[in-house]
Amino acid sequence: MISTNQYKWISLAMLFILGALASHASSRSLQEASMYERHQQWMSHYGRVYKDADEMEKRFKIFKENVEHIESFNKGMNKPYKLGVNEFADLTNKEFTASRNRFKSHVCSPAIISFKYKNVTAVPSTMDWRKKGAVTPVKDQGQCGCCWAFSAVAAMEGITQLTTGKLISLAEQELVDCDTSGEDQGCEGGLMDTAFQYIQQNHGLTTEANYPYKGVDGTCNTNKAANHAAKITGYEDVPANSESALLKAVANQPVSVAIDAGGSDFQFYSSGVFTGQCGTELDHGVTAVGYGTDEDGTKYWLVKNSWGTGWGEEGYIRMQRDVDANEGLCGIAMQASYPTA
Ligand SMILES: *[C@@H]1O[C@H](CO)[C@@H](O)[C@H](O)[C@H]1NC(C)=O
Repeated sequence: MISTNQYKWISLAMLFILGALASHASSRSLQEASMYERHQQWMSHYGRVYKDADEMEKRFKIFKENVEHIESFNKGMNKPYKLGVNEFADLTNKEFTASRNRFKSHVCSPAIISFKYKNVTAVPSTMDWRKKGAVTPVKDQGQCGCCWAFSAVAAMEGITQLTTGKLISLAEQELVDCDTSGEDQGCEGGLMDTAFQYIQQNHGLTTEANYPYKGVDGTCNTNKAANHAAKITGYEDVPANSESALLKAVANQPVSVAIDAGGSDFQFYSSGVFTGQCGTELDHGVTAVGYGTDEDGTKYWLVKNSWGTGWGEEGYIRMQRDVDANEGLCGIAMQASYPTA
């Protein structure tokens, strides 16, 4: 039997539980509402427009998952780097890498003929080629898988400044449109070494201003391609799987490197020294423009990316250097190369 008194207590307890459930539900829907608000704000910030309500719902769901992942990662505090809600926040990692990361590692294994920095013994403890005026502002490849062209051009801009004293922004679009008779296939992918081969055979590369970036495959403008703003005599590969060899090269000029940038940590990297997650399936071409050591003693490579200044540290990433694996973090020491003046 339940007494009147007990009945009162049970009723109160049930009311309390129901109240708690209701407030839990409303805080959940509040969260949803504010996530919706955040998506709306994010959309207007990046000028994103969806074609219909279905697409909107699909993108909201992906946005929400990404934001939740980024926030829980950052709360963890167990990593020396942070993730951020950047312009790629409504893309799954699969979609993101499919459109941008088109470094064709499988076709690339040229023989090492020579390595001009082989006998380098002394290197500075830090290097930042930006401070030496050898690095142009960060560019944005957009949804075109021609990272290989941006990587090769950044290395070429570097050697050109070091030899001529002039920093000239050079034309990725020329490589996309004109370097099509061999391995390189514009937005569908390519390699830095074959880009250097094209530049050598073409007796130079024109300026960004003369041949502006479009972010889509186009027909080669041979008149523009014949207007040479910078030349190289060839290129060399850094001996593979040696961060110490890579150090000798980067101490002397900006160097094209291939990395595995396929993970979502890379997609949403925002600051700090990146320590992974990543593998060694090279899918992205970037440029090592320096190196250094963080306050906490972590050594890093300073890497210029081509995803705009909204990604990472104003378009750059610091990637852990001198890791246990010979390949380097994300395979950074596997297929490095540089043009020669
Ligand atoms: C490195 O030093 C060796 C021995 O002095 C020399 O034979 C070789 O040509 C040098 N290599 C380069 C790339 O300078």
